[in-house]
Amino acid sequence: MADYQYLIVAREGPVGLIGLNRPEALNALSPGLMLELVRALAEFETDQEVRAVVIHGNDRAFAAGADIREMVDATPADMLGRAYIEAWDRLRRYPKPPIAAVPGWCLGGGNEVAMACDMVVAAESARFGQPEINLGIIPGAGGTQRLTRLAGKHRAMELILTGRHISAEEAQRMGLCNRVVPQEVYLEEAKQLAREVAAKAPVAVRLAREAVLKAQDTTLEIGTDYERRVFYLLFSTEDQKEGMRAFLEKRRPEFKGR
Ligand code: CAA
Repeated sequence: MADYQYLIVAREGPVGLIGLNRPEALNALSPGLMLELVRALAEFETDQEVRAVVIHGNDRAFAAGADIREMVDATPADMLGRAYIEAWDRLRRYPKPPIAAVPGWCLGGGNEVAMACDMVVAAESARFGQPEINLGIIPGAGGTQRLTRLAGKHRAMELILTGRHISAEEAQRMGLCNRVVPQEVYLEEAKQLAREVAAKAPVAVRLAREAVLKAQDTTLEIGTDYERRVFYLLFSTEDQKEGMRAFLEKRRPEFKGR
């Protein structure tokens, strides 16, 4: 793996692991860290062995938001010139499933990273929120849009307008995480979920994700049309033949990713 200052990057079989690692600032997402995140994602994108990516935190935090110290004196032109916020979009367009493993603080830009992932496994210690309003700003990396789609208008308004923190259980009720597990096992649970997805036919996984994400952006009619085309397209893959033959022959399929 390339050298990283703010991340711990590793690979375990088909699972790429990206640990956010600025513990002294509760993993605040500085421009340097976000650039490294983009680089690590690119590294796993080109690694054919990697079929899912887990982004995780450390003891006290997933990430306590964008780095306030780095933003306090910025002008709009500074923010624009850094192309900083665009780093979050990388996850949205990422071709392999990213899974967030969330311990401790998951605030602001941190929650926006988690929401841009496909699934979220939270530790019981996790605390979610969009506290930007307390700083005189609003969420800037998709928070107003993704939180509203995930949790609905009223809940999004409450979190964004009050800036309050919520527990992992409350976040789960709102649809912000898939499951809540003890702190000792949150990372292993996320890895297990990643391994489960990594074992499926990669082209089907990629197109299934695209279809699900499409649902957030389009009408039911356009979305179902899109789904149908993708469904037919998958009948051109070897993995579809293998998957169906394996079922009929009562054996495990061996997917090749083509
Ligand atoms: N940026 C920079 N530094 C941060 C930070 C952040 N977002 N969050 C925490 N830190 C730093 C603190 O400054 C502190 O550093 P020092 O020891 O050098 O003083 C260290 O991390 C530990 O933090 P606290 O002492 O504050 O820890 P705490 O346990 O008392 O409180 C907390 C924890 C409630 C998470 C509190 O740190 C906090 O409120 N952090 C800010 C959260 C926030 O406002 N996030 C939104 C950022 S803006 C954003 O994300 C915009 C966007 O949409 C992209």
